[in-house]
Amino acid sequence: MTRASAPGKVILFGEHAVVYGRPAIAAPVSEARVRVEVTPGEREGIFVEAEDTGEAFWLREAEEGNPLALAVQLTLDALALGSSPALRVHIQSDLPIAAGLGSSAAVSVAMIRGLSAHLGRELSAERQSAMAYQVEELHHGTPSGIDNTVIAYGQPVRFQKGSPPTVFTVPAPFRLIIADTGLPSPTGDAVAGVRSRWLKTRARYERLFDEIGDLVETAHRAIAAGRPSELGTLLDRNQRLLEELEVSHPRLQELIAVARAAGAEGAKLSGGGEGGNMIALVRPTDASEVAAALQAAGASRLIQTEVGG
Ligand code: PMV
Repeated sequence: MTRASAPGKVILFGEHAVVYGRPAIAAPVSEARVRVEVTPGEREGIFVEAEDTGEAFWLREAEEGNPLALAVQLTLDALALGSSPALRVHIQSDLPIAAGLGSSAAVSVAMIRGLSAHLGRELSAERQSAMAYQVEELHHGTPSGIDNTVIAYGQPVRFQKGSPPTVFTVPAPFRLIIADTGLPSPTGDAVAGVRSRWLKTRARYERLFDEIGDLVETAHRAIAAGRPSELGTLLDRNQRLLEELEVSHPRLQELIAVARAAGAEGAKLSGGGEGGNMIALVRPTDASEVAAALQAAGASRLIQTEVGG
């Protein structure tokens, strides 16, 4: 049996604007992962089963546009296998679907890693990322590429469309609490909403994207210089700009306000928005109080992670 996994991710700064060419920074969340087990099958062909969604199918019978099947097929193509091996692939995920934590890209990367390792050839992070990007395109037409990049590299990255991603180190690790509103929100819907508003009020949206881009660079410099205490205000400013892009949600606002009132240094939504998850920057001494307040406010799930830890 071969086991492989891939982490979830959070976008720290810059979601949505990143689709329009501005930079964004994201970090893997190793506490929440997708795990894949590959075992030899009894008869020829690849059987895929996903524990959390209940999906189960033979690759040869998969419908056109099935993302899992595409991830498998791309891996077989990359390994240039002459014949179809007899395998069972089992997927289990800690990551909520459509919640801004990169579940779809993590499934693809875990699948690519598991299959390629089982078949005797590991693929580079760059290759894994490019393949997962092709699968992301099935989920929504214009993915920026940030999810597949941070998940495949497994390290904090600065990402900008058209430039090679930069992996960066975090000299002073910082703690985040990630809280789920429990409201699923497909990224494609949020991205499509932003696009239609951008088409109507282009100059205004371009200005907002520029402001987000500047803020991302400031945050990147603060992280690289080991000054995470500067991130609180930047998270709050990014959240206000996301509200102006109209991708927030009353439930997100509520959890953000609760986290701040309980002592978080700053908080914002993370990912596509309109539901999904928010992140709060906390000092280790305040973490349990903020977590308790979020839980009391009805967050459906909390994850604590140390960026750079
Ligand atoms: O919701 P997620 O985790 O897929 O993140 C989406 C991030 C966006 O910037 C909104 C879209 C993208 O493709 O970058």
